[in-house]
Amino acid sequence: MSATGEPQPMTARAGAPLRGVAQVPGDKSVSHRALILGALAVGETRIEGLLEGQDVLDTAEAMRAFGAEAVREGPGRWRVQGVGVGGFAEPDRVIDCGNSGTGVRLIMGAMATTPIAATFTGDASLVKRPMARVTDPLALFGARMLGRAGGRLPMTVLGARDPVPVRYALPVASAQVKSAVLLAGLNAPGQTVVIEREATRDHTERMLGGFGAEVTVTDTEEGRVVTLTGQPELRPQTLVVPRDPSSAAFPVCAALIAEGSEVRVPGIGLNPTRAGLYETLREMGAELAFEEAREEGGEPVADLVARFSPALRGVEVPAGRAASMIDEYPVLAAVAACAEGPTVMRGVGELRVKESDRIAAMAAGLRACGVEVEEGDDWWIVHGRGARGVPGGATVASHLDHRIAMSFLVLGLAARAPVTVDDAGPIATSFPGFPELMRGLGAEIGAEASAA
Ligand code: S3P
Repeated sequence: MSATGEPQPMTARAGAPLRGVAQVPGDKSVSHRALILGALAVGETRIEGLLEGQDVLDTAEAMRAFGAEAVREGPGRWRVQGVGVGGFAEPDRVIDCGNSGTGVRLIMGAMATTPIAATFTGDASLVKRPMARVTDPLALFGARMLGRAGGRLPMTVLGARDPVPVRYALPVASAQVKSAVLLAGLNAPGQTVVIEREATRDHTERMLGGFGAEVTVTDTEEGRVVTLTGQPELRPQTLVVPRDPSSAAFPVCAALIAEGSEVRVPGIGLNPTRAGLYETLREMGAELAFEEAREEGGEPVADLVARFSPALRGVEVPAGRAASMIDEYPVLAAVAACAEGPTVMRGVGELRVKESDRIAAMAAGLRACGVEVEEGDDWWIVHGRGARGVPGGATVASHLDHRIAMSFLVLGLAARAPVTVDDAGPIATSFPGFPELMRGLGAEIGAEASAA
């Protein structure tokens, strides 16, 4: 939706090849964490390349409500004056995290061991999403919560007065839950331990180390064990946010399926806990090169070069890879629709509790575009129709989900008839300027309602 609340339909159609350089915005996961840890440090943190999508702006506003200063000094350039671990003030207003599960879950963790109350809410998508996965471990620290049935927002969290450290084995592979526990552990005495069976994105651990906290990571038979020593004084940092591999996925995938394309996407974060899509695309036969591999801001980055790949074939994506590409399955499904044969995705039940039920949303839209999809609780299969084989010609629902909207616009660039999304407004939560960037590459994407 737009600021006026009106849906913004948008249509993509096949046309000229995509060519040029795509400068995608900063990493959303890293941006949230930079603001939150900056707010918990003593002194002034400087951030370059912050994503200025609505999700992250909502987190900046939340940090102000908890007493930190967060000031925009220029495009992507921010200054955060932190209040120190345990220094959050009680907000005098409801914390509205908009569309962002990451924002609300991380902030709940960050305040759960400080004796203040805060009430959280969000948009029509966020209030449907499960919060028990974070409130269960936060209760072990001594925090209390009162929310709607099923642990849904709006919810009030009362932070623990005398927090105790926690040892927690994650029941679901979730970096948000891991991060909420670690952020809560900051203000608990002693050692807080999180154990994950599958490695999820590790930006919180990396960044906590950079801010001077004592964090160790060990691989054991139980899984990956992250141990944080509580009550550190966090030292302010100068942070450079890498460009988001999850946003890069859209111009990259568009280039792979739009005839004659060649697109360069520079400076993309390729942290191995985030890079599963690119491995999968290569297995499908994508013409994808990684150039100038280097390190920026403590994260591995490279320039990606994607070329039209007419001979893509379906693959079986290993379930063990799910965590490293969890946000990329929708756009992978768009590519899979243009590949020969089935693409099988298993171990992806988490897709059903994202900004939308992403399996259901993609399956419905793909079927409307003439692509056969099978689905179960935690698996789905997209039956590819080969290059230039997707009929398209449909209007699909984005369900308040930025990645569903962008995935169908990407598909529209390769389908035989245009594809319309009913509401492209949510794209601004993670990728402001997406339509303009794509048009700059030559894509025919316009603000129109009709797919015909
Ligand atoms: C994120 C973790 C993932 C991902 C989300 C961002 C993070 O969610 O889907 O977009 O920044 O920690 P889960 O932790 O629920 O898997």
